[in-house]
Amino acid sequence: MTGQPAFSADFQAELGRLFRLRRDVRRFRSDPVAEPLIDEVLGEAGFAPSVGLSEPWRYVRVATAARRAAIRENFERCNAEALKGYRGEDARTYASLKLAGLDIAPVQFAVFCDAGDGKGKGLGTRSMPEMRDYSVVCSVMVLWLAARARGLGLRWVSILDPETVGQALEVPDDWRLVAYLCLGWPEEEGAVPELEQAGWEVRDGVADRLL
Ligand SMILES: Cc1cc2nc3c(=O)[nH]c(=O)nc-3n(C[C@H](O)[C@H](O)[C@H](O)COP(=O)(O)O)c2cc1C
Repeated sequence: MTGQPAFSADFQAELGRLFRLRRDVRRFRSDPVAEPLIDEVLGEAGFAPSVGLSEPWRYVRVATAARRAAIRENFERCNAEALKGYRGEDARTYASLKLAGLDIAPVQFAVFCDAGDGKGKGLGTRSMPEMRDYSVVCSVMVLWLAARARGLGLRWVSILDPETVGQALEVPDDWRLVAYLCLGWPEEEGAVPELEQAGWEVRDGVADRLL
């Protein structure tokens, strides 16, 4: 051990650029993504940390027209419900936001947490069982960055009823939906989140929340 960072300053700068340009991508080109590339980014997601090395993530590819229609319908219903919770300017802005990339995104995954699998032997989950879900989130985050590093964009959709998604995809009852992801080639690149551009929220970063 020399006390030197394991990666070069150039790499660190590039990594920082990746973090800044990651984006939640809402608009996709319809071009397909080559299967080996999909396998590659999924492979990277498998290097995520997980509580007790439980690896509770389950990625379910949503590809058939029937399954996509079920997800779309689920989203439309939940989104209409969510809109009812806003008034005035917020309601107008919410209605104008593009909240799903479900129409075009060539690749879609529902990502579940398997609560029933014994891998990890319970380490770290006795007092905080939700750590299994957080482990799934970690893998999504790695996938997000791995995809972006290859020019792909990822979209996280959570305006869905999780139980209905599980039923539509016929997964076991003890799998909980953690994320619904759209993956594809972005229409455009950008350093500013779309919600910020739309006037919905601003990014404050960590410094303002450091106590
Ligand atoms: C857990 C999680 C769930 C999200 N769900 C939604 C969603 O349902 N709809 C949406 O428009 N954006 C969703 N997003 C994306 C955020 O709105 C987005 O990350 C945020 O606006 C910042 O933009 P950026 O990711 O481009 O930096 C989600 C992000 C996370 C981390």
